[in-house]
Amino acid sequence: MRIINTVAAMQSFCRELRMREVGLGFVPTMGALHEGHLSLVRRAKAECDVVAASIFVNPLQFAPGEDLARYPRTFEEDCKLLEAEGVKVLFAPEAAEMYPDGAVTTVTVAGIGGRLDGASRPGHFAGVATIVAKLFNVVRPDRAYFGQKDAAQLAVIRQMVRDLNFDVELVGCPIVRDADGLALSSRNRYLSATERQQALVLHASLSRMKQMIAEGERDSATLIRGGMEVFQTVTGVRVDYLSVVDARTLLPVASVHSGTLVAIAAHVGNTRLIDNFLMA
Ligand code: PAJ
Repeated sequence: MRIINTVAAMQSFCRELRMREVGLGFVPTMGALHEGHLSLVRRAKAECDVVAASIFVNPLQFAPGEDLARYPRTFEEDCKLLEAEGVKVLFAPEAAEMYPDGAVTTVTVAGIGGRLDGASRPGHFAGVATIVAKLFNVVRPDRAYFGQKDAAQLAVIRQMVRDLNFDVELVGCPIVRDADGLALSSRNRYLSATERQQALVLHASLSRMKQMIAEGERDSATLIRGGMEVFQTVTGVRVDYLSVVDARTLLPVASVHSGTLVAIAAHVGNTRLIDNFLMA
């Protein structure tokens, strides 16, 4: 696996691939890789000739006071994992390489970029949209792979790709979970053993709402009440949002149907976790 640290070298490596008409799949990450990330790599590998990945802890998507400084960094291990999955090239720039003049030009996705996590974390999705736009311009992949785990992020990126006419096909991939239901996340590393148990309430709440839907409930407010009740069974967890929205616009819907996203964010101790399900 080639590891490339500069924009110029990555651009020329990817340009060469394009000249050879190689179908290029791209998996952007912030590292601290787990099976969730690797599921994207495997899907890319199955669908593309060559897979490129990136590891970049993007300062622009962290607000002051968030976990940028302590975000888990496991670069050596990550490289081994990506190499074992057959990734051809890893782009791993420093912040100064991506933002040599600071963040002068940014991408803001109005409306949708301020919903769900965008409402709780102002500026977060502008940070995400900006770095993903930059990475797309560096790599120019045919297909890019994102996890449904970050459903709001995926909706924001889909909007950006439509609006700015990026010539890339976005592939959304299912949420990978631990055996007990906890959605895999790099931030799970922050959890103590007790918090790890408490964190199961996110999945339990979603499961309750899924069950209610299976039993015929369609009213969003009733579902949200049912989901919130589950949080009352644990201490140490603070719900940030529990929302029933349209997966494309992230706007609340009064009743659920195909294409509805049920999404949760909650603080478990000092760790903010998210989870969701999408109605088929
Ligand atoms: P990161 O949190 O490292 O996630 C990289 C990709 O892995 C995202 O598309 C995310 O949705 C996916 N992913 C994470 N956990 C997953 C799980 N349990 N199951 C399936 N997919 C999962 O998301 C980011 O990085 C950044 O915001 C980024 C897009 C790289 C821009 O900086």
